[in-house]
Amino acid sequence: MSFWNRHKIFEKNATILIGGILVVIAIGGLVEITPLFYLKSTIEVVDGVRPYTPLELAGRNIYVREGCYLCHSQMIRPLRDEVERYGHYSLAAESMYDHPFQWGSKRTGPDLARVGAKYSDDWHVRHLINPRAIVPQSVMPGYPSLAATELELEDVAAHLRTSRAIGVPYTDDQIANAKADLKAQLDPDGADAEAFQKRYPNAVVRNFDGKAGEPTELDALVAYLQMLGTLVDFKLYDEKANLR
Ligand code: HEC
Repeated sequence: MSFWNRHKIFEKNATILIGGILVVIAIGGLVEITPLFYLKSTIEVVDGVRPYTPLELAGRNIYVREGCYLCHSQMIRPLRDEVERYGHYSLAAESMYDHPFQWGSKRTGPDLARVGAKYSDDWHVRHLINPRAIVPQSVMPGYPSLAATELELEDVAAHLRTSRAIGVPYTDDQIANAKADLKAQLDPDGADAEAFQKRYPNAVVRNFDGKAGEPTELDALVAYLQMLGTLVDFKLYDEKANLR
């Protein structure tokens, strides 16, 4: 019996054929999947991307809690119409510290991946309290309670610690100072502002809701919105890409 005749075994017996198929697929699967377990990350590191500050992280929690992702995506696809409307297409590295990611799958409102620094804080404050005060045709719900609700500060350090457990590189220093850092980001004249900015390069220090007093949920959400898509300097990034 020649080698090729033996193939009859597979052709005449469905069970053996299925077994053979499984073996072949398993080999293909192993070749493709095994290397992924030995890579530390499949995401190319990009200059400027840093973990969220405690205030931004708190704002992100509110974004998730309120379900903003049901109407807003945070992923600009590399298609001309999207890039012209929203800016540079999203890089994997820009959401590498997102747990869970907020790419979304529905755009009732515009993509928010690069909404940071597009409007003033005051614009966001007024828009979040009552979208129709700014955009008369808007179907976005208002969130006036955010302005009146003090931010829960006690669980901030725990959230940083939990994020570290799933791979976000927060340092011991950042975790120990989480609560102080959250307040420091809201107070440009405060004694802790400098230490805060050392721990989180390029973070914006501002009183986001424009009101004195304890940090509100609105402070946190606006701080988060204002940093979205601002970490990577695309002028540098594109120059480097051209040199390669
Ligand atoms: C029911 C759908 C819906 C939900 C839920 C929703 N939005 Fe919107 N959003 C819209 C629509 C529609 C617009 C465009 C009109 C406008 O500016 O109000 C918009 C606009 C925006 C803009 C301005 C974007 C730009 O580039 O002009 C921001 C910022 C924003 N939303 C943030 C949020 C946040 C934060 C939440 C959650 C707290 C949220 N939205 C929840 C529908 C929604």
